[in-house]
Amino acid sequence: MQPQLSVIVPTFNEVQNIGELYGRISKVLHDIAWEMVVVDDDSSDGTADAALALARAGEPVRVIRRIGRRGLSSAVIEGMLSSAADFFAVIDADLQHDEALLPQMLETLRQGDTDIVIGTRYAGAGSVGDWSAARVRMSRLATVLAQKVTGARISDPMSGFFAIRREPLERTVRHLSGEGYKILLDIFASSPVPLRHAELPYTFRQRLHGESKLDAAVLSQYGLLLFDKTVGRFIPPRLIFFSIVGAIGVFVHYAAFALLFFAGGVSFLVAQTGATITAMTGNYVLNNQLTYRDARRKGWKFVTGLLAFYLVCSIGLLGNVGIASYAFSLEYQWWLAAFAGIVVGTVWNFAASSIFVWKQRRL
Ligand code: GDD
Ligand code: MN
Repeated sequence: MQPQLSVIVPTFNEVQNIGELYGRISKVLHDIAWEMVVVDDDSSDGTADAALALARAGEPVRVIRRIGRRGLSSAVIEGMLSSAADFFAVIDADLQHDEALLPQMLETLRQGDTDIVIGTRYAGAGSVGDWSAARVRMSRLATVLAQKVTGARISDPMSGFFAIRREPLERTVRHLSGEGYKILLDIFASSPVPLRHAELPYTFRQRLHGESKLDAAVLSQYGLLLFDKTVGRFIPPRLIFFSIVGAIGVFVHYAAFALLFFAGGVSFLVAQTGATITAMTGNYVLNNQLTYRDARRKGWKFVTGLLAFYLVCSIGLLGNVGIASYAFSLEYQWWLAAFAGIVVGTVWNFAASSIFVWKQRRL
């Protein structure tokens, strides 16, 4: 039967939750034509197999398996795009969201004057359950920032639990950034017209199995998303990350140099070479962890990527020195000449390593 509602479930290592989630949702949606779309990023715990087993048993479950990719937002987008339903709901696999809200979400959308219904932890009877004070503060701060960027009055713009009609999604999908974690925020910030929204309060539950994937890198990606939705039209957000990593690399360089030259007593040439290699290696590791988290190179590919990165940076260095010397010969001030070299070198390193090391098709 053609589903009217698609419930999109992004998963990364949720094998102990997926069956329970399916059972609970099918109970609350028993009289609705629905399907569950699991979008799994190659979990190592067998989440995809568990979901496929449901499908094999004849349950309305589809599985999208992404290999070599990571990202909650992009998973949700691809899940929705794979579906023919009129309505989409997004819910975490870990049972922290209250699936009992789903019928009411669908009913609200069916009435036609709402584009998107959000499960909120902050309005009415909603609550975050027992969170640590630090997590509450962090979440509040992120919420205020989000309200500024979207200009929408949503009490919980970071919610990962919502339902949307097809039409506003179709209007927005090509403008989405797809970066990181905050798909709802992305949708609000990217929609060409303001979205008519409604909110339903619920209590955020504790996770019973598995662990949260929210870590420092995810937080930094949140910064990236906010950036992308504000000044990102003019500067690729990854370039900012890349430049910050580059600036850290300068410190690493000096530290390594000092260690080799002053403590190690080697010659200037050897110390400078050693420091350069250390800084490039450090930059590679950081970019691999943060800037290109979603295309991270692992195992053997980590090593070949490092070699490619050395090569790219060596050419960048030649460009840097070449441009700087040329500008200096044209009698630009020394600091301006040096800056021109740095800009050219950085942009080259960024563009070339994006394409050749982390295989991006788009900067
Ligand atoms: N496909 C895929 N890829 N799924 C992912 C990834 C990924 O890289 N990272 C996380 N997930 C899945 C998890 O398996 C889970 O089903 C869901 O996305 C949420 O991940 P958690 O790691 O449990 O996030 P959280 O509990 O810290 O935060 C969630 O709740 C908040 C409050 O509603 C997220 O939904 C946040 O976006 C939300 O703000
Ligand atoms: Mn969770």
